[in-house]
Amino acid sequence: MAMMLQALALATLAACPVSASYAFYVGKNLTADGSVLVGGTGEEVSSHWLQLFPARDHASNATITVGVTKNAVIPGELIQIPQVNHTLRYLSMEYSDYEGFPAPLTNGGLNEKGVAVRDVWADNRQELIDMTPTPQHGLQYSDLARVVMERASTAREGVEIIGDLIAKHGEATYGGNSHLIADQDEGWIVWEMAGGAGLWAAQRLGPNEVKVLYPGYIEDFPVDFNDSGDFMGSDNIVSFAVEQGWWSSASGKPFNIFNVYGPQDPQYTARDGGYKYMSQAALENATLAMAPVTEEDLMARVRDCRIADDEAGYGQVVSLRAGVDRDLLRVWIAPTTSVASPFVPWWLGVQSVPPEFGEHRYLTTGASSSFLNPDYQLQEASVFAGRVFKRVLYYMCSAPKTYLPVVTTMLTGFEAQSRTQVSDWVEKTARVLIAQGQREAAQKLLTFYSHTRAAEALQIGQTMVQSLDGYIKLTGQWRDPKGSQINDAGEGDETVNCLVGYDPDQPADKQQHPLIKRSYKRRSQARMNKMWLSNR
Ligand SMILES: *[C@@H]1O[C@H](CO)[C@@H](O)[C@H](O)[C@H]1NC(C)=O
Ligand SMILES: *[C@@H]1O[C@H](CO)[C@@H](O)[C@H](O)[C@H]1NC(C)=O
Ligand SMILES: *[C@@H]1O[C@H](CO)[C@@H](O)[C@H](O)[C@H]1NC(C)=O
Ligand SMILES: *[C@@H]1O[C@H](CO)[C@@H](O)[C@H](O)[C@H]1NC(C)=O
Ligand SMILES: *[C@@H]1O[C@H](CO)[C@@H](O)[C@H](O)[C@H]1NC(C)=O
Repeated sequence: MAMMLQALALATLAACPVSASYAFYVGKNLTADGSVLVGGTGEEVSSHWLQLFPARDHASNATITVGVTKNAVIPGELIQIPQVNHTLRYLSMEYSDYEGFPAPLTNGGLNEKGVAVRDVWADNRQELIDMTPTPQHGLQYSDLARVVMERASTAREGVEIIGDLIAKHGEATYGGNSHLIADQDEGWIVWEMAGGAGLWAAQRLGPNEVKVLYPGYIEDFPVDFNDSGDFMGSDNIVSFAVEQGWWSSASGKPFNIFNVYGPQDPQYTARDGGYKYMSQAALENATLAMAPVTEEDLMARVRDCRIADDEAGYGQVVSLRAGVDRDLLRVWIAPTTSVASPFVPWWLGVQSVPPEFGEHRYLTTGASSSFLNPDYQLQEASVFAGRVFKRVLYYMCSAPKTYLPVVTTMLTGFEAQSRTQVSDWVEKTARVLIAQGQREAAQKLLTFYSHTRAAEALQIGQTMVQSLDGYIKLTGQWRDPKGSQINDAGEGDETVNCLVGYDPDQPADKQQHPLIKRSYKRRSQARMNKMWLSNR
């Protein structure tokens, strides 16, 4: 019985949804070097791979295909919309699978203008989800993230682009979504609502703010938002709520986007999304407590084992500041969940991605029902970094008290070395070369360093896996699976995580982990989707 209760408690408290994602924003007045800092991950089951998209010119009649197909959780049809005549260079972690959306997908990344984008789920109230017309048409969250990277020179322009495109072509949704867009000066959070009415709201994040989207949220919002430089939204963002009876000026209550358009469940508040072990408020506090925040600090936040687990597809941390040459814009990327893999520095000036960090079939949609396309023969033959570090995760989290500190020390040691090399000579040399008109040589240097460091990261990952494998087997800690199902049953099943000191038999205030204040009731987009489907 005790065992059963424990299993139940675990299922309730430690269960995690299929997908979510999180994003951190730290304003430039709260960081050690005056940069705006952005970090986060995409929580999708799918494989994730690093891809560089060069700047390109396009014919005046060029189009792009956007939207979702009949396979999406809320079915839709793809549409063609005009391409712009020039798209910017950007770097992104791509992936193949989320809620039936067409691959390849992106949560965002960094472009050559120093605009960073992250996409994060942000549920809407059930009425909006029910209202969504089918088949739905318009740009979905990944299209919007991609278009912002391809077209935006500033964060504000990114918001305007999203607003314009939704007004012209609509938005295809899976139940509500948000984007964090940042540049060297500021951040913006954009919340795109389900419902097919083109509703969206955006709020500027200033130099003295920390914001964590987990999920995304916007609270008080001025009804005369057009007069404010700090807010943007669709023309109907206020009037629609009034028409639906969701808000009225007579109520005397401020117009609050979360209260009006968010989930109408008293269990959830704007800054307590009821998700995993840390609310947005707790994550924001923990980040703020680090001010002045460094890249290293934000890496620690992103890889915190209370949020980073098997669900985190990768880790990203980027600093945005004035006066950085476009080729020297740098993003630190962990090839899979950063609790088990090191951040490696990549620059926009890097010219290629090593095959080990490119697309492989492990966890890629369709891999179990089709043979390898011979075009990918050699790439697939190479070791896949994502797979190697998933192995680190699974071994490490089998006894986190023992292995997590050792692995974390190795990862942070590796990153400290990279940071020293990057600042001691890599970027200095690249800057000198660019100043001397030798841009191509600078790009080759950056490419050489990123490739070399990525190869070293992979080597260390393989060494960790071999050590953990040997240690676990030789010390009698090996456990065969007890059941027969290698895939979890989906929504509600626990996923592999490395929580330390978490005891499901203890009340939340007795937990060893200092920041676990209470157990968060699980909630997820997948559940919303099921509700949507069952209500149709
Ligand atoms: C930066 O933060 C400090 C301390 O909170 C504050 O006094 C100062 O006004 C801020 N600067 C700007 C430009 O907001
Ligand atoms: C665009 O125009 C070019 C040149 O007129 C033509 O060859 C091409 O087929 C057109 N492409 C599309 C997508 O219409
Ligand atoms: C490309 O588009 C921009 C803005 O839309 C415009 O100013 C520019 O003239 C266009 N260039 C070409 C070659 O069409
Ligand atoms: C906001 O301003 C824009 C451009 O000036 C205008 O087109 C739009 O109708 C205004 N929206 C609202 C809600 O007043
Ligand atoms: C975050 O910090 C504020 C201000 O110190 C405090 O009132 C609040 O309780 C904290 N919230 C959490 C969840 O830690």
